[in-house]
Order: sequence, then C-alpha cells, then structure tokens
Amino acid sequence: MSSEAQRVLIRSAGGLDRLELAPAEAPPPQAGEVRIAVEAAGVNYADTIVRRGLYASAKELVGWPITPGFEVAGRIEDVGPGVEGFAPGDRVFGLTLFGGYTQRLTLPADQVFHLPDSLSMAQGAAILVVWLTAWYALFELAHPRPGQTLLVHSAAGGAGGSIVQLGKLAGCRVVGIVGRAEKVAEARALGADEVICKATDDLWAKAKALAPQGYDVVLDATGVETLKESYAHLRRPGKLVVYGFASMMPKGGRTNWLKLIAGVLRTPRFHPLKMTNLSSSVMAFNLSYLFDQKEILMDGVRQLLGWLAEGKLQVPTVSEFALSQVGEAHAAIESGRTVGKLVLVSPR
Ligand SMILES: NC(=O)c1ccc[n+]([C@@H]2O[C@H](COP(=O)([O-])OP(=O)(O)OC[C@H]3O[C@@H](n4cnc5c(N)ncnc54)[C@H](OP(=O)(O)O)[C@@H]3O)[C@@H](O)[C@H]2O)c1
Repeated sequence: MSSEAQRVLIRSAGGLDRLELAPAEAPPPQAGEVRIAVEAAGVNYADTIVRRGLYASAKELVGWPITPGFEVAGRIEDVGPGVEGFAPGDRVFGLTLFGGYTQRLTLPADQVFHLPDSLSMAQGAAILVVWLTAWYALFELAHPRPGQTLLVHSAAGGAGGSIVQLGKLAGCRVVGIVGRAEKVAEARALGADEVICKATDDLWAKAKALAPQGYDVVLDATGVETLKESYAHLRRPGKLVVYGFASMMPKGGRTNWLKLIAGVLRTPRFHPLKMTNLSSSVMAFNLSYLFDQKEILMDGVRQLLGWLAEGKLQVPTVSEFALSQVGEAHAAIESGRTVGKLVLVSPR
C-alpha cells in the first residue's frame, strides 16, 4: 500500500465540517498485533455523537483529535511477533476502539478475524458492531425464551435490524417499530412478525393491541422520547434493555443544547421498589466500555460467525460511501432515513 494512506480526523467537536482527511499513521505491529490495509470502515450512529463531542468513552479514552470508527475490513499488511494464523494478504475484518475511519490500522490480533469468502469488504465492515450489540442485548442481558414477544425500536436500522434477526433466531415473536413508512419492508425482510410505523400508526395504541399482556422484552435505543412508554408496555415479568439515546440528537445540523439538556432532565428514573413489585427490570450497556471483556465478546463473535456460516443470519443492506464522502454518510445516518448499514470504502 502506498504511503499516502488517509484517515478521517476530527480536531474539535461540531458539525459535518469538522470531518477532514489527514495522513493515516499506523505504527508497525508490535507483539500480538497486526497492521491492516483497510478497504472498508463501518459507520455507526455513535460515530456522529463522537463527532459532536458527546460520546463519553471517546472523551475519556481518546480526546481530541479523534478518528472515529469501531470496525474495519481489509487485508493484512504486516504481522507482529508472536502472531499466528494471519499472513500478509489475508482478507480480514475486525473491531477497533475508535480509529476505524482510515486506510491503515494496527490492531491487537485477537480483535481481528478471517473474512468469510462469501462477504465483500463492505459487508465485512458492516456486521461486527451491530451483530455484537444485538447479541449482547439479547443473549447476555435479556435471555428471551422461545415464544416470548419482543418490541424492537428502529427495527430497520443497523442495531435494531440485527436485534430483529437474532430475536427470530431465538424463537421469539418480534414486533418492530420504524420511523418512516418506507422502512416497513426492510424490517419485515429481516423477520419482524409485525411492524409499527411511527409516521402512520398510533405507536403505543398499536403496540398495546399487538401484545395486550405486554412485551417480555423491549429494546430501546431511542431514549427519552420512548423510554417511559417502553417500560409501561412491559409484561410482568419484563425486561427493558436500554442502549442508546438517539432522540436527544437533532436529525442533522448543530447540536441543540436546549433539547439535549431537556432530554437529560426528562429521561425517566426507575424506582427499584416499584421495579421489584412489578418484576420489571431495566438493563443497559455500551459496547465501547466492554472492549476489555474479550471472553464475552469473543463468545459472541464465534456464535454469530457460526450462524452466518450456517446461513441463519443475513448481512444488512449496505450503502457505500467513499472515505472522502464521510460527511454525506454522517448526514445520512443522522437524518433518520437510512436502513441497514452505511460503510466507507477505500477499494484497492
Ligand atoms: N450501547 C451500545 O453499545 C450501542 C451499540 C450500537 C448502537 N447503539 C445505539 O443504537 C442506535 C442505533 O444505532 P445504529 O448505528 O444501528 O443506527 P441506525 O439504527 O442504523 O440509524 C439510526 C436510527 O435511529 C433513529 N433516530 C435517529 N435520530 C433520531 C432522533 N433524533 N429521534 C428518534 N429516532 C432517531 C432512526 O430510526 P427510526 O426513526 O426508524 O427509529 C434512525 O434511522 C443508536 O442510538 C446507537 O447509539 C448502541
């Protein structure tokens, strides 16, 4: 690979204009590391919150400047001492704690996996974060039983769509919620048994009609806009899994600090005494704080790649953007209009 490799750099918090291209620096791999010539980088909604300077783990672990991105696919360029199983030229994909929007990246080898021949580079960069998010929410936290009913917000998106798929794999009845009518087909294609469209349906009236006894599990990354009702629509016993707060953010444009502060203040508090009597649990997680839980995450990766090999999981719909179009990719995922995954590609 030429020495002109580039990466996306954000020097300070703000809008799309903060996304600039800069030379990519990836040190030679040390013991236990590999260097990857990156050909595709997954875009996650969280990356836009990183850009806005509101993502806690980015501020704690990296600060400014920062290159966002949690996942890449590419080819092995160099292998550090002691690394077995990888050789230059191998097609791989992997997880990274930030830094993924780049054309060259050095990573611990245990965060890197061989890319199945059936997947393109863009598909490889599209699955690890959303599938692991869905796996962790369902199989580490909620443990749904076959036959139980799940309510899944943003069911045509990256993480939500993956929860729909894994929920069906777990034998559950899945009710998906989407924000726009054109997303209904995507949620159904992923396996949702019923889809509620917030633009055309009365969300909570329909949710009640579809599960009069309530939902065994509700999976909510919308946040303040829906959390109170998500909890109110649990059955007894029921579990609310919280993993994002998109509704505090604008659908494009500048951060609205008044909306953000109002959102924080309006976020419901759940009382342990009432929760106990209702047998209703609230669980939450952020994968970016779980990178040291490698045993758990690797269990997830093994299981997910096994399901992929058995044809039980379908790769999300992927929309590709050149690395230089990173602003368009951020604008798209912030707009609330996208389905599936967005990926930045740097083909060789
Ligand atoms: N905790 C974790 O470890 C973790 C990991 C991955 C993702 N997440 C969270 O999961 C959510 C989805 O992430 P993703 O990367 O898969 O993105 P995505 O679902 O593909 O795209 C974001 C979706 O969120 C909804 N949305 C966006 N802005 C909104 C707003 N202002 N108000 C209400 N809804 C809005 C829209 O879907 P609808 O209108 O159809 O609902 C939009 O399409 C995000 O909140 C993200 O932070 C958390």
